[in-house]
Amino acid sequence: MSYIEQIDKTRVPQHVAIIMDGNGRWAKKQGLNRFFGHQAGVTAVRKITEACAEFDVKYLTLYAFSTENWNRPKEEVDALMTLLVDAIERETPDLMKNNVRLRAIGDLARLPKNAEDKFRGCMRLTENNTGVNLVLALSYSSRWEITNATRQIAKAVKEGSMSIDDINEEMLSKSMTTCEIPDPDLLIRTSGELRISNFLLWQLAYAELYFTDVYWPDFDKEQLAKAIVDYQGRERRYGMTSEQVNS
Ligand code: FPP
Repeated sequence: MSYIEQIDKTRVPQHVAIIMDGNGRWAKKQGLNRFFGHQAGVTAVRKITEACAEFDVKYLTLYAFSTENWNRPKEEVDALMTLLVDAIERETPDLMKNNVRLRAIGDLARLPKNAEDKFRGCMRLTENNTGVNLVLALSYSSRWEITNATRQIAKAVKEGSMSIDDINEEMLSKSMTTCEIPDPDLLIRTSGELRISNFLLWQLAYAELYFTDVYWPDFDKEQLAKAIVDYQGRERRYGMTSEQVNS
């Protein structure tokens, strides 16, 4: 039986976050330039978004470009930006047709102007869509986000609009760029690396982690189903005992 058939439709994770890794190695394995790996990566994004709609996953967050990725060779950064802008341009009609809402987290102001405008335009256009929320982490890093939130809170306390006693977990969550998005239930990282790489450190507190050797361009619907089935086999205890959870 395929993994797709094994999914328990009543216990699908509400939010799946993915560290898409292995585009470069996928390309190298075939003697191709890294760019082709990223191009194939975009095709995988499309397929996995469709699969989330089919499985009824409400939020899909993809680590598309980290703060650290700005340090890659300029040609690769430029190629990635062009690829992202082209993908948004090309896919926007289908996002509308399939009721997908595009969201972004990260320091969008750091993107080239045309890329920032393209994203903001697509987010505005799709904001009333009620299907899958496709959240792209762009120029994102968790430490950047937490530092920003801390600065914002310190400023409010200094100006007197907030007291130190108002600072609690809920308030901190609302200060993150993910304030409108529930925490991920399942984090997937492709390509065999066993790291979190500065991604959603606050929000992943109780996520189930799933690592696979498959390179991102080869990660398909059946691979996603495999991760979901694995997730469904786990017991989420949130610090409690098994007996408490099951009572
Ligand atoms: C990791 O592979 C991938 C990235 C840094 C970029 C991922 C971006 C895309 C797949 C394009 C996203 C497009 C949309 C529309 C969201 P790597 O280059 O680190 O691979 P390697 O570790 O094998 O070198």
